[in-house]
Amino acid sequence: MTVAVSVENLSVVYDDFRALDTASVEVEAGESFGLVGESGSGKSTLLRAIAGLAPVSDGAIRVQGRELRGARRNKAFYRSVQMVFQDPYGSLHPRQTIDRQLVEPLAIHGISDGERRILKALDEVGLGSGFRFRYPHQLSGGQRQRVAIARALILEPSILLLDEPTSALDASVQAEVLNLLEQVRRDRKLTFLMVSHDLGVVTHMCGRLAVMQGGRVVERLTSADLVAGRIAEDYTRNLMVASKGFRRKTA
Ligand SMILES: Nc1ncnc2c1ncn2[C@@H]1O[C@H](COP(=O)(O)OP(=O)(O)OP(=O)(O)O)[C@@H](O)[C@H]1O
Ligand SMILES: [Mg+2]
Repeated sequence: MTVAVSVENLSVVYDDFRALDTASVEVEAGESFGLVGESGSGKSTLLRAIAGLAPVSDGAIRVQGRELRGARRNKAFYRSVQMVFQDPYGSLHPRQTIDRQLVEPLAIHGISDGERRILKALDEVGLGSGFRFRYPHQLSGGQRQRVAIARALILEPSILLLDEPTSALDASVQAEVLNLLEQVRRDRKLTFLMVSHDLGVVTHMCGRLAVMQGGRVVERLTSADLVAGRIAEDYTRNLMVASKGFRRKTA
């Protein structure tokens, strides 16, 4: 097995608040790994730390075997790990065309076959080139999230960090975007690390998951175990009861 992302005893401290407390997670290459836990448990902080966007005070992060230190200055790292956020409106620039937002990362990395990559990425997320010169406000929520996914793909990463990528969308659009993500993962042989508060989504998308509470990982289990109720922690059981998506699926 090849490990794509390894997070070992990672701590993130804001002032004197410990948002992440010796959390460890290991994600295999090609798998889709889920992170669940109550609000404030540190899920986004963990993704942000991997993306180099949170102040790591202790522990280690390795991506494809290489330890990340000062990773934000490392262009190769930026290309291999990309993040998709919950709110595509917040992550897209309101006054720039889709084209411009797709060109930008290519320009930063000095990539020359931009035209081909833009057309490919738009096609892959199910938006034709007709969307290329529109502005974010001229798109639906689902289309905006497709653009955010296209932008994450344009540098041809191997790992996507997905922070509640569909929870701002209507249920039917949510299913479309999840199917799209799954297809992209297969086609590009990507590794996903995905946060969702909806256990129905996580068990559908991910083979294994970690359960977080208070900045710690309190349980690791497979989706099959979760669905079958083979759960060690009461905390995890309570999350299951609280997750509407999961109730719907298991009712
Ligand atoms: N920049 C920051 N400064 C101070 N505290 C922060 C910062 N970012 C996060 N925190 C705190 O760290 C804790 C974990 O936050 P985080 O965003 O990781 O939670 P989460 O599990 O993603 O929750 P949610 O499900 O609501 O998105 C929270 O208590 C939050 O208030
Ligand atoms: Mg969060």
